[in-house]
This record gives sequence, structure tokens and C-alpha cells, in this order.
Amino acid sequence: MIEIKVTINGTEINGSEGMSILELARENGIDIPTLCYQPDLVPVGACRLCIVEVEGSRTLVGSCHTPIADGMVISTHSPRVIENRRVIVELLLASHCGTCYMCDKANSCQLRHIATDLEVGIPRFPTRKRYYPVEDVSPYIQRDLSKCILCRRCVRTCRDTVGQNLFAIAYRGFGSKVVFGLDQPLDNEVCRDCDACIAACPTGALSKPGKIGDEKKGKPLLVTD
Ligand code: SF4
Ligand code: SF4
Ligand code: FES
Repeated sequence: MIEIKVTINGTEINGSEGMSILELARENGIDIPTLCYQPDLVPVGACRLCIVEVEGSRTLVGSCHTPIADGMVISTHSPRVIENRRVIVELLLASHCGTCYMCDKANSCQLRHIATDLEVGIPRFPTRKRYYPVEDVSPYIQRDLSKCILCRRCVRTCRDTVGQNLFAIAYRGFGSKVVFGLDQPLDNEVCRDCDACIAACPTGALSKPGKIGDEKKGKPLLVTD
């Protein structure tokens, strides 16, 4: 194993070749927020929340998919990094349904926790919400895609961990959406009811049937702006 020396937040730390900046930081108790990263999956760099400053690099780099290199000087919480993370979260919330107070995921929602940690409140940007009716046709999974942040964790978990490959991302830009098949309701026969995608979802977009109240099923949720 080749040892690599890097400096994180002013402290020299030893890592090994092939480690990402995020892995080394977490191994040393440095908390970098992430949404699309999951340790057992290949990182895809979808959310950009894990950005850090690397000396000599013009742009901020995604720590979950950037390997450490000898002599790297990294700053994980500089004012520039924090401000950019805040903007990323604000943009996510600008298209989000914004009904935390009636969301079943509320206290365990990673998006909400990160927004709180970064002291992000009402987005400064004009909001444009994604509206989808709550889909409850499957006995195994309820989907409220108005809470989806397109992190792809469900897509990758179902494909790479479970080996079923039920989901994919379809459409483009603001219309991008996690779909089953040709964007049809989730087919009961193919889901193994393993709950792996539900556990992987960092927001309230996926849940067990019965978790979402009857009054909300098939309707877009209340909008607060
Ligand atoms: S999924 Fe959305 S509505 Fe639910 S707690 Fe998280 S941020 Fe709030
Ligand atoms: S449904 Fe959940 S896990 Fe899947 S992409 Fe959306 S937020 Fe991520
Ligand atoms: S956690 Fe690194 S890009 Fe999402």
C-alpha cells in the first residue's frame, strides 16, 4: 500500500493511494456533508455538496470522487466552500415541495439536517417547484417525487446492490425524473420488497405504503410559497 501525505485544514494526514478526499477526511473525523454519496456505491458526483477547496485548483472539487494525491493541500470548510454549499442547498430547496412539518421523513431527512447545519432557511432564489402526485400503486414502495433531489441513490442501490435495476433517470434538465420502465407506475411483480431503495433515499421521496396519509395520495402536496 502506497502511503500519501496530504494537508487537510492545516493538519498533515497520511492516507493511502486510491482513497478519496472524502474517505480520508471522514476517517479523520472531518465532517463533509454529502447527499448522493453512499459508501457501498461507486460515487457519481450528482449533488456537488461534498465540494472542497484544493490548493492550485481553479474550481472547487467534489471530494467523494476525487482521489488524494501526495502533497495536496485541502480546505473542507473555507468561507468559499461554505458559501457554495449553501447555494447548492438553496437551489435544491427552491424546487422542493417545502412541507417538512408534515413529512414522514422529517427528523431523519438528510436534506433537512444539512440545510439546518448550513443555516439555510428560505431560498433567496425564485422558487420553481416540481409537482408530482404521490404514487401509491405498489404494495412495497410509495413514491413522492416532489421530494426527490435526483441523487440517484435508489437507482444505483437497486441496480448495483440488489441486482434488480428497476429505476433509471429519464427526461432532461428541470424535467429529469426517476422512472420505472417507460415512466409507468411501479410494477408489483418485479420489486423484491427489500426496502433497500427506501433506506438509501436521503429525503422523504420513497417510503413504505401507508406512511403517507390517505388525504395526500394522488395529489400534489401543499405548497408554501
Ligand atoms: S423530504 Fe423534503 S419535506 Fe421531507 S423533511 Fe426532507 S426537506 Fe422536508
Ligand atoms: S427517489 Fe430518493 S434516492 Fe431516488 S433519486 Fe430521488 S431522492 Fe435520491
Ligand atoms: S456527495 Fe459528492 S457529489 Fe454528491
